[in-house]
Amino acid sequence: MFFIGNVRLENRLIMAPMAGITNLPFRMMVKKLGAGLVTSEMISAMGLVLGDKKTRDYLKSHPFERPLAVQIFGARPEAMALAAEIAVENGADIIDINMGCPAKKVIKTGAGGALLNDLTKVRQILTAVRRVCYVPLTVKIRSGWAAGGTAAEEIGLMVEDCGADALTVHPRFVTQGFSGCADWDVILRVKRRLKIPVIGNGDIVSPEHAQHIRSQTGCDGVMIGRAAVGNPWIFKQILALENGGKTAAPLLSERKDLIVEHYALLSQIKGELRAARDMRGILISYTKGLPKSRCFRGAFTKISGLDTLVSAIDSYFSFLEGRSNAGDLIS
Ligand SMILES: Cc1cc2nc3c(=O)[nH]c(=O)nc-3n(C[C@H](O)[C@H](O)[C@H](O)COP(=O)(O)O)c2cc1C
Repeated sequence: MFFIGNVRLENRLIMAPMAGITNLPFRMMVKKLGAGLVTSEMISAMGLVLGDKKTRDYLKSHPFERPLAVQIFGARPEAMALAAEIAVENGADIIDINMGCPAKKVIKTGAGGALLNDLTKVRQILTAVRRVCYVPLTVKIRSGWAAGGTAAEEIGLMVEDCGADALTVHPRFVTQGFSGCADWDVILRVKRRLKIPVIGNGDIVSPEHAQHIRSQTGCDGVMIGRAAVGNPWIFKQILALENGGKTAAPLLSERKDLIVEHYALLSQIKGELRAARDMRGILISYTKGLPKSRCFRGAFTKISGLDTLVSAIDSYFSFLEGRSNAGDLIS
């Protein structure tokens, strides 16, 4: 069990916010497979404040996935405070603030990772949001803007001083994008200085990595991003390892059932046609690394509804089952 402020999580494993990925159906899948906390995609504070329909749709949630952290981004303190209130009214159990996004279109508005260059603005935003936000407030940062700039420890101390309830550190500089490796020593240094929980993130690709980051840095929670895309079972595997069990890969039948369930949820929310379009990429991630998955991509890209989805996955999974029955180990 683990607390962020007064919100109780079943475990210390957190699904990272990922734009274009951590929508409601995806979050339901990772929640089902053991994540203690799921986070929305980053949501524009200005979009929420201006009542933009598409932006507000990002707030849709389901009781099953709770507790839910909603991540907002922006550079204007009043808009961020208002956006936090809107998110809470719509069911957010935790408000997370993005202070790490390296995307140019975000940076040029002074939001995301650009804030790590402007600590006065960081304080203004956190003070404004804290004043109105009665649910726990968390912040997600990178190591800093660039090497030689303000250190993550200093930023973390300011975040704590402004009343945040937890801090997530993805230890790459904003200017690095996703290049190089996550420097987990930064998490260790931040953890040593802060009293609030510190969540470690970056390059965790296996259950063993999740154990390693905790023992190396002492971080209180572990956040997983890319490794859960196509492999939401990673949460179940980490929990199994923590409890002294084995980290079994999903059975082919479990993989297939999850794909169908994911599609059913997507269709309920987006309608069959749009869900079919979105499902093409999702199927590629669920089958990545499996034998001959590339050969079936053509069929995946023709999916136009439930019938074509079922026939594409039926033919691919029958092929895999044939290989598995013939003695190939497939997971
Ligand atoms: C496609 C994609 C979208 C992302 N979107 C967000 C986002 O909306 N908010 C955020 O704070 N970080 C975002 N991130 C960063 C992740 O949350 C995470 O910090 C990063 O991927 C490192 O963790 P990982 O190595 O486990 O993937 C995104 C990363 C990727 C690859």
